[in-house]
Amino acid sequence: MSENESENESVALSIRDLNLTIDDHHILKDVSLDVPAGKVMGLAGESGSGKTMTGMTVLGLQPEGAKVSGEIDYHGENLLAMTDKQLAGYRGRHIAMVFQDPTASLHPMIRIGVQLTDHMRHHLGLSKEDARKRAIELLELVQVPDPEGTLRRYPHQFSGGQLQRIAIAVAIACKPDLIIADEPTTALDVTVQAGILQLLRHLCDTTGLTIILITHDLGVMSALADEIAVMRGGQIVELGSRYDVIRNPRHPYTKSLIDSLPKQMMEQREKGEQAARDGRQEQEGGQHD
Ligand SMILES: Nc1ncnc2c1ncn2[C@@H]1O[C@H](COP(=O)(O)OP(=O)(O)OP(=O)(O)O)[C@@H](O)[C@H]1O
Ligand SMILES: [Mg+2]
Repeated sequence: MSENESENESVALSIRDLNLTIDDHHILKDVSLDVPAGKVMGLAGESGSGKTMTGMTVLGLQPEGAKVSGEIDYHGENLLAMTDKQLAGYRGRHIAMVFQDPTASLHPMIRIGVQLTDHMRHHLGLSKEDARKRAIELLELVQVPDPEGTLRRYPHQFSGGQLQRIAIAVAIACKPDLIIADEPTTALDVTVQAGILQLLRHLCDTTGLTIILITHDLGVMSALADEIAVMRGGQIVELGSRYDVIRNPRHPYTKSLIDSLPKQMMEQREKGEQAARDGRQEQEGGQHD
């Protein structure tokens, strides 16, 4: 842990020594991670490294027969010690998930309005009218055009990018404080990916939402995450602020991932980081490196 780390920074979720085994296959190995509240924690790493399994285990959605040990502390409660019924009360309500394919979280035959409001009426106890009002506000927040018309339509009437925005609206409808977004832009056209990432960042900055962003794409990570954890072979091999991990990677695997990023992207990133540092130094009275 770095000395500069803020001592009173609150933690939204704390994973301690998480181990997961399926049929003698040790899939997660001593995964420990503090997710700072109101920040984007990026979980990066190659395919099969255990990113999705980590996210699913937080929600108690690990494969049947998996043996799990460790602790996942969420506001003083150990999620790993909860029964399925107790966990079900947390899923969607306090901790929500956004998947790669937005159609996975939306029913194809039910109007968007019903999918958004049913959820809220059930969990938040809202009246039909209040739920409808909040649904429109949510669609405005995720910047879907014509929110009122959207409520009447079905999923197939939207583009992939718009559907992911709607899926994000469904995910945040019950005011969870943590979202686990697993490759939320991987299935989307490259031209709409940036918009979805900006939306997640915007939600984090304006509503205090905490996001665990899972992606194999370190480029996406370097553009969005506050903190980055890099996984390999079921372990966290690197953990730190985005700046430290991207600029001073310690693990050779992280170095190789960063070296494979397009050079232009890194130059833009450095400019952005430099501007941010200049801003901070001005505020702090203009100290030099
Ligand atoms: N249902 C399952 N049963 C048994 N093993 C599984 C199951 N799902 C995943 N695994 C194994 O767990 C390991 C971690 O998989 P996981 O899906 O977490 O990887 P990932 O980092 O999310 O990869 P990707 O980037 O491809 O999504 C892999 O070795 C995978 O084969
Ligand atoms: Mg995955």
